[in-house]
Amino acid sequence: MIEPLIKVNDLSFEYKLNNKTSIPVLKGVSFDIFPGEYVAIVGHNGSGKSTLSKHLNGILKPSSGDVLVSGSNTKELQMLREIRQKVGMVFQHPDNQIVATIVEDDVAFGLENIEIPAATMKDRIDYALEAVGMSEFRQRPPHHLSGGQKQRVAIAGIIAMKPDCLVLDEATSMLDTYGRRDILNVVRELNDDGMTIVSVTHHMSEVAEASRVIVIEQGQIVMDGSPREIFQQYERMQQLKLDIPVASRLARLIHEYDEEFQSDLIRNNEIIQEVVRLSAKRGVFVG
Ligand SMILES: Nc1ncnc2c1ncn2[C@@H]1O[C@H](COP(=O)(O)OP(=O)(O)O)[C@@H](O)[C@H]1O
Ligand SMILES: [Mg+2]
Repeated sequence: MIEPLIKVNDLSFEYKLNNKTSIPVLKGVSFDIFPGEYVAIVGHNGSGKSTLSKHLNGILKPSSGDVLVSGSNTKELQMLREIRQKVGMVFQHPDNQIVATIVEDDVAFGLENIEIPAATMKDRIDYALEAVGMSEFRQRPPHHLSGGQKQRVAIAGIIAMKPDCLVLDEATSMLDTYGRRDILNVVRELNDDGMTIVSVTHHMSEVAEASRVIVIEQGQIVMDGSPREIFQQYERMQQLKLDIPVASRLARLIHEYDEEFQSDLIRNNEIIQEVVRLSAKRGVFVG
């Protein structure tokens, strides 16, 4: 049996404002993340997505329940360094994550923290900058880069540590379309090469690329399934006031007029394939 990479077991969390007041955020959340999965986490603002993400590598500790990373509890202080190395996080604002004045120094910073020997340091930096397509910028000052490029440097800083899992908390939300596309391509390649991905996102076209979707509402998991299963539950998604991809809406609409047209499509290229399939079947030529 395959062991989960991350095990979240009956996790509850409240922010303590002072001795008397606390804000309950997560309420009995349980799920496992397995090696190689690409999990999208969706939910409204304030539903607890960032709070949950910060539990996955021990930035926050459960008020009750447990989070285990490769079997190590995030509550065990002596395991924290290893846990942080296994599960890396990229946040929303690229500017807050960059510490050095030269790109390659920034990538080196995390490696120095985990005491990677100097001899392997250069290889790790080369690998990481190459993986995010930023090799030619290694001598540049990060503050001259675009938001998307900065975010790629932030990802390089994490993957240089060779984590098993990359957690992205709305890492593309400050970026333009091109910046977002670049990050998604990088993330998809990392996942193809075996890295586990957990991505908090509002972009349903990105959710359609994931292997699994977890929907969180008021600190609880309300849906958990493949993107196709989740987006098929159109009414439930509407009740939760969550979007579905344009391709899903289009497929449902066409299906209403032509019931042979498959209604459970979620990606743009699936729509095109379906048009081609039906056209060929009906002897209509599509260029
Ligand atoms: N540092 C904090 N101190 C107190 N309350 C917080 C803090 N961070 C978040 N919250 C509250 O926790 C709830 C969940 O926030 P968050 O996890 O950021 O949700 P999301 O990422 O889904 O928008 C919100 O009500 C928010 O106001
Ligand atoms: Mg958030």
